[in-house]
Amino acid sequence: MNSEDVRKVGVVGCGIMGSGIVEVCAKAGMDVTFVEVDEERAERGRQSIERSMGKAVEKGKLDEAARDEAMARITASTSLDDVADADLVIEAVTEDLDTKLEVFGRIAELTRPDIVLATNTSSLPIANLAAVTKQPENVLGLHFFNPPAVMKLLEVVRALTTSDEVISFARGFAERIGKTAVLAKDRAGFIVNFLLVPYLNSSIQMLDEGFATREDIDAGVQLGLGHPMGPLSLADLIGLDTMLQVSNVLYDEFKDPIYSPPTLLKRMVAAGYLGRKTGRGFYQYTR
Ligand code: CAA
Repeated sequence: MNSEDVRKVGVVGCGIMGSGIVEVCAKAGMDVTFVEVDEERAERGRQSIERSMGKAVEKGKLDEAARDEAMARITASTSLDDVADADLVIEAVTEDLDTKLEVFGRIAELTRPDIVLATNTSSLPIANLAAVTKQPENVLGLHFFNPPAVMKLLEVVRALTTSDEVISFARGFAERIGKTAVLAKDRAGFIVNFLLVPYLNSSIQMLDEGFATREDIDAGVQLGLGHPMGPLSLADLIGLDTMLQVSNVLYDEFKDPIYSPPTLLKRMVAAGYLGRKTGRGFYQYTR
């Protein structure tokens, strides 16, 4: 199992993270087939990849020929059967354990038993996903950051069952796609979300309690700490539904109130204010 031998990657789910993962793999020279639940979502995924690559061209990070070649390596599908011959499958469906277990079990049934199966979960237990496959030693977390085309980090998450060979494979794969790998244990939140979630939740709590305006909270962090964006803007980028799910998983795992989702976050998700993806979160966006 060598990361250099990966010719075809299957990506299951082509939302915010899946589309970015497809883009990164295609730009690194791999053929990528992504699977979505219906034609409409597949088309939305394709457009999002095209938009991001267009932005890369605009910013001088990619030339037009490389963009066209990368786009030509991408195939959209609505059938999981189309990842059956992949050399690596990365699951990036919604952050819900039951959904992921179902999808993961189906992927494991379809694919060769010797390939690596990865999940892009940001908080759920890799051990549970490994347990529904025939080769749990070949299962691990490959956690990308949003937006995947820009963020340099790849968290490699080792479950109790993951083999050393698969960890070496993941390090090689990270290098091949131009990311830096860090190794984390299979604990909710891994490295980054364990730290990020309490910080983002505190900013939502501050806003709800009227400590400061959304603009001042964001400007405070951006200008005072040198972050590229403030916490409320970042929460909108991640998606408030994802934030809520990740907070719940962390709270469930550690039972520490610092992970408990703030009431305002719950109410915003209930109202459908999910951030950039729905055009409204802490800020409004034109899509
Ligand atoms: N492709 C390639 N490069 C791109 C690009 C694209 N589509 N879009 C932007 N870039 C590059 C730009 O060229 C620029 O590069 P240089 O610094 O070399 O010039 C850089 O990205 C920043 O771009 P801009 O200054 O034009 O700003 P932007 O508004 O386009 O970028 C942003 C926005 C990249 C999102 C930036 O604000 C940022 O880094 N924000 C923080 C994002 C973050 O923290 N993500 C982690 C979220 S947590 C997570 O994902 C974990 C989880 O599980 C919840």
